[in-house]
Amino acid sequence: MKNIGSYPSTRLRRNRKTGWSRRLVQENTLSPNDLIWPIFITEGKNVKEAINGMPGVYRYSIDKILKLIEKAINKSIPMVALFPHTPSSKKNANGKEALNKNNLICKALKLIKKNYNEIGIMCDVALDPYTSHGHDGILRNNYVDNDETIKILVKQSLLQAKMGCDVIAPSDMMDGRIGQIRKALDKNGYNNVQILSYAVKYASNFYGPFRNAVGSSKSLKGNKKNYQMDYKNSKEAIREVALDIKEGADFVMVKPGMPYLDIIKLVRDNFKIPVFAYQVSGEYSLIKNGIINKTLNEDAIIESLISFKRAGASAVVTYFADSVASKLK
Ligand code: PBG
Repeated sequence: MKNIGSYPSTRLRRNRKTGWSRRLVQENTLSPNDLIWPIFITEGKNVKEAINGMPGVYRYSIDKILKLIEKAINKSIPMVALFPHTPSSKKNANGKEALNKNNLICKALKLIKKNYNEIGIMCDVALDPYTSHGHDGILRNNYVDNDETIKILVKQSLLQAKMGCDVIAPSDMMDGRIGQIRKALDKNGYNNVQILSYAVKYASNFYGPFRNAVGSSKSLKGNKKNYQMDYKNSKEAIREVALDIKEGADFVMVKPGMPYLDIIKLVRDNFKIPVFAYQVSGEYSLIKNGIINKTLNEDAIIESLISFKRAGASAVVTYFADSVASKLK
């Protein structure tokens, strides 16, 4: 490397000596614009329910949703992500509740869209909150059938779009679903509905608390290793993203977050498409529970979120969105 200088004429600590100087040379920043806030919805009235493993995160009944959306708007959070907690009585092998126009997600979408337009609503496309076996698709001989699952995911996407969803977010890892969903959306007049593809989603051990939150952990049979990516791999991520861009994705997600900063950087360096990161439930849990001192914990949260920006993410899905946005404002 040229022009790096040498000691003692060059002292890198000089630029770090004062706060104002550090501010002048900072390469990355964090603002509420970078945050996507996941919200868990459950049945009932006036419910705010704690979630095992995720202190500070709750499931809310629909009547409490508008307050949360208002809060998000006031904090300049650009988008929320809705996730349903479906009672087991409504789950079956085909996840039929996903296509019920009165399911939790549809009800929440209708209500929010009737009242607010200045915030984006993103919804997961996958069947795991609705299947009795907890998998993201339908099983044939104990294997998630790719093409049969896509047919249902297309219907789920169309339903969400009809209810007012702004960003369809397939998190299922079926091959070819982005293209099929894009085609169906366009054919039905939803050509402005965006697609956020969970293009690079690993079969991760960090999803545990989320599965509690949506109630799929008890029912999940086996694991998701034969459709989600192997965490030993990175080159595959490039192929996943390339295919999804070709199929019409508007943004791509890397998930989980902090153990995969190298992948975020890899995608950022290889493509022009915006990359989002998902700081998943297990990461939330570790950070939230891991540091005893409150101030240190808050600063560690910011540090973790800046790491995504440094790696090249344009936005981060994080359960800290709400508290961090308050702090940043
Ligand atoms: C399901 C889905 C998962 C998450 C988001 N969508 C779990 C899974 O794939 O089993 C995990 C999010 C988190 O852990 O915070 N399609």
